Amino acid sequence: MLDQEAAGALRRAFSLFPTGVVAMCAEDEDGPVGIAVNSFSSVSLDPPLVSVCVARQSTTWPRLDRLPRIGLSILAADQERLSRQLSSRNGDRFAGVSLARGEGSALFIDGATLWLDCSIHARLEGGDHLIILFEVHKTTVFPNVAPLVFHQSQYLGLSRAS
Ligand SMILES: Cc1cc2nc3c(=O)[nH]c(=O)nc-3n(C[C@H](O)[C@H](O)[C@H](O)COP(=O)(O)O)c2cc1C
Repeated sequence: MLDQEAAGALRRAFSLFPTGVVAMCAEDEDGPVGIAVNSFSSVSLDPPLVSVCVARQSTTWPRLDRLPRIGLSILAADQERLSRQLSSRNGDRFAGVSLARGEGSALFIDGATLWLDCSIHARLEGGDHLIILFEVHKTTVFPNVAPLVFHQSQYLGLSRAS
């Protein structure tokens, strides 16, 4: 097992890979439920699959895990505050958030760059995380919306490479 120093160094090393930020949201009998994740990856075109890695200690994932449909919203450059809100451990993660309903239980974030209406295809072992493979049932694209970028624990936007 890694000691704290080695774990911190590895976390910083992994953070050099720039990612987008995804809101993974749905609605159950108690209302909206969701978390911000950056471990999203596209996986397969046929069948259409994407993956997200969820920490085994997540208290939110068990609520999402039993729902038939989960919405993935790729956040926009102006949604940093929303990403912080959807990852906070206290407070209402959905206060003031403008949501759109998908099929069944899926919820989407208005103003995002992409919506993926998903169901769970498989749950795979991933060390201290679970690798969730999602089947994508519907995509709604907003190609003119600039994405939020997460790099070295900072929120950034895209700019053209020189
Ligand atoms: C930019 C960003 C990316 C994150 N990515 C992930 C992720 O990929 N997987 C994960 O389990 N948690 C991720 N988190 C942490 C969750 O958003 C959340 O804080 C964590 O799951 C604890 O809340 P919970 O107990 O309600 O699940 C991320 C947080 C931030 C701010």
